[in-house]
Amino acid sequence: MRKMAAGNWKMNGALSDLTELTLLAQRHAMASVDILMCLPAPLIAPAQKEGVIKIGGQTCHVASSGAHTGDISAQMLVEVGAKAIIVGHSERRQDHNEDNATVQAQARQVIEAGAQAIICIGETGDARERGETLDVLADQLAGSVPEGATSGNTVIAYEPVWAIGTGVVPTLEQIEEAHRFIRNTLVDRFGSDAQDMTLLYGGSVKGSNAAEIFSVADVNGALVGGASLRADDFSPIITALEAS
Ligand code: 13P
Repeated sequence: MRKMAAGNWKMNGALSDLTELTLLAQRHAMASVDILMCLPAPLIAPAQKEGVIKIGGQTCHVASSGAHTGDISAQMLVEVGAKAIIVGHSERRQDHNEDNATVQAQARQVIEAGAQAIICIGETGDARERGETLDVLADQLAGSVPEGATSGNTVIAYEPVWAIGTGVVPTLEQIEEAHRFIRNTLVDRFGSDAQDMTLLYGGSVKGSNAAEIFSVADVNGALVGGASLRADDFSPIITALEAS
């Protein structure tokens, strides 16, 4: 099982902010966990010098090339250095109407391009209030995770939509229930290899809550938004994961 501390800069950051990655690479040169930073596409190539830190993208098109003005393929991101690509983030599902079929096609592109697919799933606050959390997760796992997914080419990120950017974190029991359900569902479908699939929790993870979140069974790391932008904020999350 590979533990992973992953950051998602979303639509933030400039060339000058890559110094944050230099700092992280210096502080964690001997890291015992995978460190991944998913950057806006224009920053991927310039970030390649950052040693121990793997660089990733945040989305890709469902096709490998073609007449799709403004879009970027997984192959293109991999060519400039992306080792992993997030697909199915709730902000993409919401802002760009990306459904499970789209996410699955994107994940296939990522895997075919030779990178790791970080597939995001998670319920809305309304769905949780209606008691539909596990139904939503089952539906998203069945629809978004492609055949051929393995512990090597796929990571699942559980990101409850209501916890993203809100400072509201689920209880440890809620995180445990979701992660146990995800693990069991993956093992039912993919067999024992899915025991080794890395499962990330995402949603308002900070240095101050990382250790308790990493103590939860079947949480193998985090996908971090706001607290990934500055080395001083992300560094304690890496340290907590290493200690878990
Ligand atoms: P925050 O850590 O800012 O809540 O964002 C989580 C997220 O969406 C990571 O993909």
